[in-house]
Amino acid sequence: MTEKGLADVVAAQTHVSDIDGKLGRLWYVGYDIHELAKSSTFEETVYLLHNRRLPNTGELEGMTERLVLERDLDEFTGGLMPTFGEVASPMSMLRTTVSASSAYDPDGWDHSAEGTERKSIRLIARFPTMIATFHRLRSGLEPIPPNPKLPHAANFLAMLLGEEPDEEAARAFDICLILHADHTMNASTFTARVIASTLSDVHSAVTGAIAALKGPLHGGANEAVMAMLEEIDDVGRVEQHVKDKLGRKERIMGFGHRVYKTEDPRATHLRRLAQELGERVGETKWFEMSQRIEQVVMEEKGLYPNVDFYAASVYRYLGIPTDLFTTVFAASRVSGWTAHVREQLEDNRLIRPESEYIGPRNQTYVPIEERA
Ligand code: COA
Repeated sequence: MTEKGLADVVAAQTHVSDIDGKLGRLWYVGYDIHELAKSSTFEETVYLLHNRRLPNTGELEGMTERLVLERDLDEFTGGLMPTFGEVASPMSMLRTTVSASSAYDPDGWDHSAEGTERKSIRLIARFPTMIATFHRLRSGLEPIPPNPKLPHAANFLAMLLGEEPDEEAARAFDICLILHADHTMNASTFTARVIASTLSDVHSAVTGAIAALKGPLHGGANEAVMAMLEEIDDVGRVEQHVKDKLGRKERIMGFGHRVYKTEDPRATHLRRLAQELGERVGETKWFEMSQRIEQVVMEEKGLYPNVDFYAASVYRYLGIPTDLFTTVFAASRVSGWTAHVREQLEDNRLIRPESEYIGPRNQTYVPIEERA
């Protein structure tokens, strides 16, 4: 018997992250996501996922420095950016750019564990530069070079938006990156592990993972949430809109989850951040509408918001363009994808499941000229 969508099937053993869907808990390497959101940084989270322990001061400085030094795009990859213009969707740009950047990676075709580690850190460091450069150029603006004095999250916003974020915005975005960094055997991570298991390279695995994340049932949901908020546009219209949608058997994006049967612990932080940022910029509309949607969906369907729901308002308040939301998710999740690729390679066996054949059997081949 097959379980549709491989629900509840354990596809790999991992040391990287763990979920308790009934209790609504998430841990990275045994550390509760609530503690990490409170006290960690994205740089430290990268170290944790890749080394499976928290760094000491020197080790954190080392990781931070590596992530800073690896931010610049090579000439070939940077040269691709103007060619995307307005025609490529941001996720397609990212997928193509990551794939293309493999050709000019300083480690070339070195697939050793050390080479794969260096490529992984390089990819994590470069995602923000790829996204920001693409966005600036398509907007007719000069790309802003990475600022080595800024941490990963603050530098990302500065390159994207053209001004250094204040401390509160930078911290809110850093928390977003921590919250999205890993999430067990989600579709994109599974994709990355399948590709790695063939002994392909880490750029190929990450390219495939981006392709999987792009879909609206996975990372693409955050953009769909914003589109819904914009369409509703008024808290007074929420109830009718949601009921109409459900009446048409449409899904409400940002709700439901394969594993969580209660509140997604990441949504708890994103709800708070959406409220705080909304109050700070004096535009609470997106947060209020989101809260009302949450109430109506709970009453009508008993579904909880997932990570993508409040992330949409948070990103909007931070000034991030809607069509870049999923790339921002990818810029964080690349830390988890690469940690999983490295873990897969440590003790690899080709991932090759079975299928259950349900088509016709014992058919007789009829020559084409005799077919109806
Ligand atoms: N809106 C409305 N109904 C939903 C729903 C949603 N967001 N999510 C699930 N449901 C309903 C389904 O219609 C189905 O109802 P039915 O049994 O009456 O047909 C039931 O809940 C189970 O859905 P199913 O698709 O089997 O669950 P799943 O585990 O395969 O799906 C998701 C998980 C995340 C794909 C699904 O909840 C979804 O599509 N959510 C919206 C997209 C999203 O936010 N994705 C980001 C995930 S982090």
